Amino acid sequence: MNKVAGIKPIVEMRNIVKTFSGVKALSNITFDVLPGEIHCLVGENGAGKSTLMKVLSGAYSPDSGEIIFEGIAYKNLTPELSQRLGINIIYQENLLAPTMNVVENVFIGSEIKKNKIFNDFDAMKKAVVTEMNNLGININIEKPIEKLSVADQQFVKILKAIIKRPKVLIMDEPTSMFNVEDAKKVLRLVKRISDMGIGIIYISHFLSEVVEIADRITVIRDGAVVNSYDNSKRDTKLSVITKDMVGRPVDVFYNKQQNEIGDPLLVVENLKLKQASEPLSFEVRKGEILGIAGMVGSGRTEIVRAISGADKFYSGNIYINNEKVNISNPCDAIDVGIAHITEDRQKLGLYLNGSISENIVIIGLGRKLKNFFVRPKKFPELVNPILKGLNIKAASHNMEVRYLSGGNQQKVVLGKWLFQGADLFIFDEPTRGIDVNSKNEFYNIMSSLTKQGKGIIMVSSDMPELVSMSDRVMVIRKGSIAGIIQKEEISENNIIKKALEVDDNE
Ligand SMILES: Nc1ncnc2c1ncn2[C@@H]1O[C@H](COP(=O)(O)OP(=O)(O)OP(=O)(O)O)[C@@H](O)[C@H]1O
Ligand SMILES: [Mg+2]
Repeated sequence: MNKVAGIKPIVEMRNIVKTFSGVKALSNITFDVLPGEIHCLVGENGAGKSTLMKVLSGAYSPDSGEIIFEGIAYKNLTPELSQRLGINIIYQENLLAPTMNVVENVFIGSEIKKNKIFNDFDAMKKAVVTEMNNLGININIEKPIEKLSVADQQFVKILKAIIKRPKVLIMDEPTSMFNVEDAKKVLRLVKRISDMGIGIIYISHFLSEVVEIADRITVIRDGAVVNSYDNSKRDTKLSVITKDMVGRPVDVFYNKQQNEIGDPLLVVENLKLKQASEPLSFEVRKGEILGIAGMVGSGRTEIVRAISGADKFYSGNIYINNEKVNISNPCDAIDVGIAHITEDRQKLGLYLNGSISENIVIIGLGRKLKNFFVRPKKFPELVNPILKGLNIKAASHNMEVRYLSGGNQQKVVLGKWLFQGADLFIFDEPTRGIDVNSKNEFYNIMSSLTKQGKGIIMVSSDMPELVSMSDRVMVIRKGSIAGIIQKEEISENNIIKKALEVDDNE
């Protein structure tokens, strides 16, 4: 049954237009959300999803159009008005206070007062605990935010929004930094929140997740609505959505061409992260993609962080091209030809006030222009092929990175490392937040790197990606190697079995 038939929208955006320095980000969009409905908004990187939501949250003023909230029309909203009406947004970026604890973060700016003067910590604590029970969340509320996992930080953002009992909750890629299990928790939570009668606008690049939870799916392309689907039966076809997003059919499954695998490029011998850790030994050959899989906290990221000098390790030897190398910091790794593209891109990867070109050339410039002075005029020539290859959507390469859409910012981080060049690329969750089409473009780039004899380590929780791109998959369980799966044996099932230690004979 269509649970939304006959109900009036809480809020309706009509004919919204928004331009940034002459470039149309939104052209004539009409979009609404009903009480208790999960309305998913999908589209390629830079399509205008976040911009549309910023118009609704009052962060941006539209050039034209109107917003009708419970029957009353507004030309534009301010953040204060939007909140007062009951619209709450959880942004793509993390906006929590890192040193404050969970309770303080939830109530920042809207503290419960005792005698109208003093903050009533007990009351606030009680309210948070009640809400957590209500939503089925379990977090240590005394901990400062910076000590929590990315997933728990996301739950704090949701708590903070829900405790105000909004009428509309906007979630912009809430699971983009999550592993599979945590993402499932968020989905359950979203369902629970919609059952409270709150209208949810949900943005995600995980299209199967979208089909799983959406009551309605709206696809936008280049700032305009392409189609809207009733998904009350959870049966909208992925191929239909991706075709709308991109404007032509796209393969959801990538077929990688097999190429020649050569001599060992990286050899890791008895690597111990800590004194008590299991020693780890493995290798990556030239032209090979080694996938690294494992459950949350299995230690995948820690292993690659040790190899790239991001964290110190206790003992062990690392060889590159048969030569023993000493890596004790990220610069050492870069010097021996290792590029590490980290999981947490926004925090670690970009200089937000710099232009796209500046960000891309920042590390590699010294090498490329060895005997020249730095000549910014040369940037376009150097950067353009990368912008094109990665499908980065921007008005120009001089655009400041902070104005790019979330997915396009991630592509700049990837571009930066591709430009710098390396022998071994370590990608940690490389395609999070990147749309289907650009994902395939990125897989093409990975393939061409391996054709040039580069080696790749790819830490990923994206099963289709692991299965289609890896030559071998190393499965990590509790900090040790649970097994290495050879090409012919790689399947989602085999990876999960190894990761969970399920025996074939059981
Ligand atoms: N403040 C701004 N100044 C200039 N251009 C902007 C600004 N904000 C957004 N844009 C541009 O508007 C377009 C839409 O961006 P938006 O962030 O809405 O995309 P998105 O659909 O959320 O993409 P993603 O999936 O990558 O998050 C992009 O081309 C972006 O560069
Ligand atoms: Mg966005």
